[in-house]
Amino acid sequence: MAIANSVLDMIGNTPMLKLSHFDTGPCDLFVKLESQNPGGSIKDRIAVVMIEAAEKEGKIKPGGTIIEATAGNTGLGLGLVAAQKGYKLILVIPDKMSPDKIRHIRAMGVEVRLTRSDVQKGHPEYYQNYAKSLAEEIPNSHYIDQFSNPNNPLTHEIDTGPEIFEQMDGRIDAMVVGVGSSGTVTGLGRFFKKNAPDCEMVLADPRGSILADLINTGEMTEAGSWLVEGIGEDFVPSICDLDLVHKAYSISDGEAFETQRALLEKEGIIAGSSTGTLLSAALRYCREQTEPKRVVTLVGDTGNKYLSKSFNDSWLADQGLLNREKSGDLRDLIARPADTGDIVTVTSSDNLVTTYKRMRMFDVSQLPVMDDGKVVGLIDESDILFGIYDDRESFNKKVADVMVTDLKIVTPSASIDSILPLFKQDKVAIIADDENFYGLITQIDLINHLRKATL
Ligand SMILES: Cc1ncc(COP(=O)(O)O)c(C=O)c1O
Repeated sequence: MAIANSVLDMIGNTPMLKLSHFDTGPCDLFVKLESQNPGGSIKDRIAVVMIEAAEKEGKIKPGGTIIEATAGNTGLGLGLVAAQKGYKLILVIPDKMSPDKIRHIRAMGVEVRLTRSDVQKGHPEYYQNYAKSLAEEIPNSHYIDQFSNPNNPLTHEIDTGPEIFEQMDGRIDAMVVGVGSSGTVTGLGRFFKKNAPDCEMVLADPRGSILADLINTGEMTEAGSWLVEGIGEDFVPSICDLDLVHKAYSISDGEAFETQRALLEKEGIIAGSSTGTLLSAALRYCREQTEPKRVVTLVGDTGNKYLSKSFNDSWLADQGLLNREKSGDLRDLIARPADTGDIVTVTSSDNLVTTYKRMRMFDVSQLPVMDDGKVVGLIDESDILFGIYDDRESFNKKVADVMVTDLKIVTPSASIDSILPLFKQDKVAIIADDENFYGLITQIDLINHLRKATL
């Protein structure tokens, strides 16, 4: 490969991989690795085309500010391009998005305005409405608006589509995509309608999004919520041409995350959560076929941004999406059970530096102290703070010197009501019986449990 002179020259020309470890029925299934774009997603492609089109049309002038509403990936793409071209960029991002994505965006020097993810289109704090009003307030600014920008689908019609067609030697029977802004579905749909009219466009939609029902039954249902990022809609964007779509699958978050993880385990590809939805739909489509077909789907972004979410068992358990066996007692409330190896502990002979580092690493504020499989104490942030405050050398003190040993052990069969008084005293519940230690229940674990019960 030739040496590139700008990161922008490295956008596109992404590899295509034929999957070999999934059951694809009579079909061959291929994934196009859009995760290999420099910003890590398919959105790099539209960022460069939309900004260059706005420059040509005189909508962005030197020293200007670009504004966009984005779940993250378009922001990363725009961040790349804006930095190379010397524009300021402000992004409005709903607060359900992965913290890692937001850190990545901020580290590019982009200004981030977080907004509510629990409000619908029309509300002033809905991310697109918020971005639009920012652009009206800020002089010399331009709202990119990927949701109604014709250069978004055009990118996929003139760039992504021809690339896929060439890689497949012109032989493609179905293309499976998701809809966020709908640029991908509209652009690829237009390209294939002209160049491979028998190629079926298949939509992969998160359960809760309105689009799968709209395609399959023509009915406009009320939007629910979903955890997969970047795809799924509660409205039909103005650039969206759903007539191009032949079939749609509605995929639950649980199935998407399981498939996302299977892709890494089986094929070595670390992909984002939307890929889990797309691949789940593509696999269902392939297995339903009676004739061999060549089916293509997208790895829309890299999974590195989701290590703390869909690749994290504790997060999945918090969302009620990890199939842990239910015990029907207090053990079901433990976020990091001892028997799964998820629990983080120290021993009484560890020092306070080790304890402090472990708390930071796993983002917890207390740890059980375990010697030979038995809980002998509990250590929290205040034990460390008061242990070292008067003498900073005392970070070398042993856990045994500062831990709390007056432990209130609760048996798994106790009621939830019985642990409340412990929380009133700012303690945690240690769940154990004569034989076993099962784990801790903290206040946030109980809040998570009560929240799940209301969903
Ligand atoms: C990560 C990601 N974001 C967004 C999309 C949807 O793209 P668009 O905004 O063009 O509808 C996809 C589609 O596969 C995707 O994988």
